[in-house]
Amino acid sequence: MVKSYGCQMNVYDATRMADLLGREGYAETQNEDDADLVILNTCHIREKAAEKIYSELGKLALAKRARDAEGREMKIVVAGCVAQAEGEEVLKRQRAVDVVVGPQSYHRLPDLLRQAKNGRRLTDTEFAVDDKFRALPNPSRAQIRARGVAAFVTVQEGCDKFCSFCVVPYTRGAEVSRPVADVLAETQRLVDAGVAEITLIGQNVNAYRGADQAGREWGLARLLERLAQIEGLARLRYTTSHPVDMTQALIDAHESIPKLMPYVHLPAQSGSDRVLKEMNRKHGAADYLDIVRRLRKARPDVAMSSDFIVGFPGESDADFEATMALVREIGFASSFSFKYSPRPGTPGAARDDQIDEEAKSERLAALQALLDEQRRAFNDAAVGREIDVLFEKPGRHEGQIAGKSPYLQAVHVEGPLEAIGREARVKIIAAGPNSLAGRLVSEEAKA
Ligand code: SAH
Ligand code: SF4
Ligand code: F3S
Repeated sequence: MVKSYGCQMNVYDATRMADLLGREGYAETQNEDDADLVILNTCHIREKAAEKIYSELGKLALAKRARDAEGREMKIVVAGCVAQAEGEEVLKRQRAVDVVVGPQSYHRLPDLLRQAKNGRRLTDTEFAVDDKFRALPNPSRAQIRARGVAAFVTVQEGCDKFCSFCVVPYTRGAEVSRPVADVLAETQRLVDAGVAEITLIGQNVNAYRGADQAGREWGLARLLERLAQIEGLARLRYTTSHPVDMTQALIDAHESIPKLMPYVHLPAQSGSDRVLKEMNRKHGAADYLDIVRRLRKARPDVAMSSDFIVGFPGESDADFEATMALVREIGFASSFSFKYSPRPGTPGAARDDQIDEEAKSERLAALQALLDEQRRAFNDAAVGREIDVLFEKPGRHEGQIAGKSPYLQAVHVEGPLEAIGREARVKIIAAGPNSLAGRLVSEEAKA
């Protein structure tokens, strides 16, 4: 059993770990009571994330002790970014953990598990991205199908940006792009098994610079263009982008590639130039607005999404107001927003002008109210329109199927299970805060 926290990269890594352990004879289970092996695939992005992991480990330790008493084994592995950041500390803090493995070395997990015997406990947090991708086995068609019609493909890992609040450059290492041929092969394999939507993922996915077989470097725009030629692939997305790497070529791709969905997750973090500078973001509010303007020119219906941090050290009321102004000016379809959480080892944490909790909470509430309002307005605007929905799974109620709009909204309709895996035209009849309801216009698949 793999429990994943954090970003899409961890979701992807969890599937690759499952593929890897499948080859070793492990079968996936969602039930802790059945599991011989529990992997916590952890996130270190905010303080609470790590705390949650230790409390989860405490519970697992009790379960493991009960198992031991029955003479049955249960191994506990800590993977992901807490594993990378804390390494052996995890073994010290929780005696029940057998293996600690980082996000760039989990291909060695089978070996580590074999060695973790008779009280022997191991840590491996080496950065070995290229080895990792070479060593991972390909999933079978059945495994791919079981995971559904929308899949992630990692194209880039790591980060060289060093935003002053963020641990990712320390846990994921330097930016590395996967070779073009690897990405094409993995995507083709997924599409052959029935996947209709691919989301290219990376900590800075638009910093992608992968080599082709002739040794030439491809940017993300070129990669998307090539992937769009794969027959049977209906939709392409990419996430997460950094404003600094938002090239005109990538913006133009939203105009020239119909399969590229009109939805861009582009974290702004703040609307105050002063705070952005101190965050080491290397862009100002005007740059962000300009990117959005150019994106909307290329693809007028593009929906924007962002991440925001409130209460970064030194953030004044006026700085926060600048964030609100940016949000008002753009109008986001959906967004994540967080209170600044000091992460040991990052420049932001060392500052002595931390914002008090109360002010952070107030600002977060005000920002989230505005973002919620915008999300509702965005959803409401879909009512009465016809849009293409890619159906992914049965709906919550009998006779319903559920899927996603091009703008990543959840949509449910009354419809046949056979429509799952295909795009179909839907007339939207109602909108809620988190989903849309519609009616199938035609049951003919488009592709
Ligand atoms: N690589 C992406 C996302 C990184 S983490 C990017 O550059 O945007 C996802 C989000 O977590 C960030 O966008 C940021 O909004 C938030 N985050 C990161 N570190 C944080 C911290 N110390 N406190 C609060 N939020 C944080
Ligand atoms: Fe973190 Fe900044 Fe890198 Fe994103 S770009 S992963 S926020 S350091
Ligand atoms: Fe978290 Fe690591 Fe992703 S810290 S957000 S799991 S890169």
